[in-house]
Parts: sequence; C-alpha cells; structure tokens
Amino acid sequence: MPPGKGDGRMQYKILEMLKKSAHAYVSGGDIARNLSVSRTAVWKHIHALEDLGYKIRSIPGKGYRLMTVPDLLTPAEIQAGLTTKSFGRDYYYFQELASTNEKLKELARDRAVEGTVVLAEKQSAGRGRLGRSWHSPLGGLWFSLLLRPAILPLRAPELTFVAAVALAETIRTFLNVDSIGIKWPNDLVWQDKKVGGILTELNAEMDRVNYLVIGMGLNVNVLPEDFPEELSHKAASLAEMSAASLSRLGLFLELLQVLEKRYYQWLKEGFGPILMDWKRYDAYRNKQLMVSTPTGKLWGRIVDVDEQGSLLLDVGGQIQKIMSGEIMVEEKMEERGR
Ligand code: BTN
Repeated sequence: MPPGKGDGRMQYKILEMLKKSAHAYVSGGDIARNLSVSRTAVWKHIHALEDLGYKIRSIPGKGYRLMTVPDLLTPAEIQAGLTTKSFGRDYYYFQELASTNEKLKELARDRAVEGTVVLAEKQSAGRGRLGRSWHSPLGGLWFSLLLRPAILPLRAPELTFVAAVALAETIRTFLNVDSIGIKWPNDLVWQDKKVGGILTELNAEMDRVNYLVIGMGLNVNVLPEDFPEELSHKAASLAEMSAASLSRLGLFLELLQVLEKRYYQWLKEGFGPILMDWKRYDAYRNKQLMVSTPTGKLWGRIVDVDEQGSLLLDVGGQIQKIMSGEIMVEEKMEERGR
C-alpha cells in the first residue's frame, strides 16, 4: 500500500475518536474494539500520528488524549474535511518527494484514477516551467492533480487556465483579498511578486489525451528568509501578504473543492466562462511590458488573451499573438526606473 493511502483510513478513524472526546481520555481498548483491531495496532497508529506531529498524551490505564494538531496535510486530516466528489479522494501524502509531478506520472502510468492527488510537505527537486527548478521548502503547498478528460490534445492548455482561475479564486475568497492576480499564462502574483505557479504535463496520442498532471505550487507559510537570494525580490508568500501564518489545511481543502467545481464547469460549458474569469484576475492587462518568447524578447502593451489562451501583445501598433512565453515583470521595473 503506498504511503499515505491505506494508513490514512485507520489513522483518520483514531483521530476522529480522539477529536470527538475532546478533553477526555479514550482507552486503547475502546479504540481497538471500535475499529476491530488489536491494541498493539492502535498503539502503532498512535505512534505514527505522533511521528507526523500530532501531540498525543498517553496515560497507562487511562488511554490517549489529543493535545495539539499540526498544520500538516495528512491523509487523516484531508479525509476528515474533504467535500469533493473525486478530487483528493485518492490521496498520496509524503513528508518529502523529489517532485509530486514525477510521482503522479508514475501513478498515472499505473492506472491511477482521475482526481488522484499527490502532495509532499517539501520537494527536493521541485520542477517549474521552462525547465526551471521550483523551490519547495516546508510551509508551502506542493501538490499534483491527475485529470483524464476525453478531449483532443489541442485543448489541454485550457486546463492550466482552469487551475489558475481556481487558485486565484480560492486565495481571494479564503483571505478576503483582491490583490492576488494572474500573470499570463499561469503565475499567481501579488505586488509583482510570484506567490504560486502551475506546471501542467500532458501524456497524449495524436487524437486523444491519456492524462494530464497539473502540478501546483503555492508559497503559503514560506518565510521571506526561506527564499534563496536569487528569489528574494521575485517571490512572496501568502503569509507575508496577509501578515499572518495561514491554515494550509483549510486553504487546500477549499482549493480542491474549487478546482473540482471549475473542472466540471469546463467539461460542461467549455473554455468560455473560465477565460472570462481568468481575464478578471489578469494582473497586467494594458501594461507596457517585456515578453520573452521562444524566438526572442518583445516589448509591447498587453492587449488581451484570445480564445486559445494566447497572449495578444501590441508591438508598435501591430498585434502579435504569443502562444508560449513569459511576461518579464523585472524588465518593467528597470524600465520604470529609467
Ligand atoms: C512555475 O514555474 O511557475 C510552475 C511551478 C510548479 C510547481 C509545482 S509544486 C508541485 C508540482 N511538483 C513540481 O515538481 N512542480 C509542481
């Protein structure tokens, strides 16, 4: 059984019992009887929970009492709070992974179902767009979601927009802020700094999609000093933005729900409504900026995003359609300073 999947159910049930009894002790015997397992099994699960960061006091003859719950995204916590139909129902949890995208691609090849989620508390080789690495220390939200839509590969990029809208919407609602925007194609930004990103990977044949792995990274409680020097002026965290440490669990549960809602909306109604909302969150519309493309850099005014998700840039009165690339906010800063 993979870590985080099978173990989670029993741990969840034990946690449920401990949480329900709030301040009272629950005896090992009662837990064992209730869950039809041995007392030794209960004891092992309690230890596993402690290893994850739960503080559980145990008194011989009295039993166990839950003292504190860590802000960890353990299967037990996820199962207890999940309100989705399929997203996150198959949940693989790791203290550390090289990359959640890599892990989920393995599971996808092994026939994992749509909605499967892989999450790691930290990544040692997190991957970003354009072959970059993604800094993923403790305190962030690093996870990947598996989708298997019956569509032509041509439409796959739309799903990155679905994810970006869901992320922006969730953060705005959860933190009650409107200062989070999207930088084309799918960076989450606050005050020109990146707070999150999306890496979508596609496995397809000419005329059908086998699966998509949508990797999402959000700097939630990452502290400014946790960013390496080269990122310090480019990256920010939600905690920094709201000047408080946040519940990653609450945010993640909400996010899974919104992702699922937006995905079903996209399946039913197509790209139109997603694109419309994406435009509402667009942080750089009408701004003069540098855009880096595979064929070079272009300086122009961001006009719009078309129905394929391409960026429309006004370069000296001519509209250029950019299908892949990156808006260079830094260059704008330099330009401003001149
Ligand atoms: C970007 O460059 O903006 C995309 C960043 C995507 C990072 C996430 S973190 C979870 C998932 N696993 C990875 O290795 N990358 C993505």
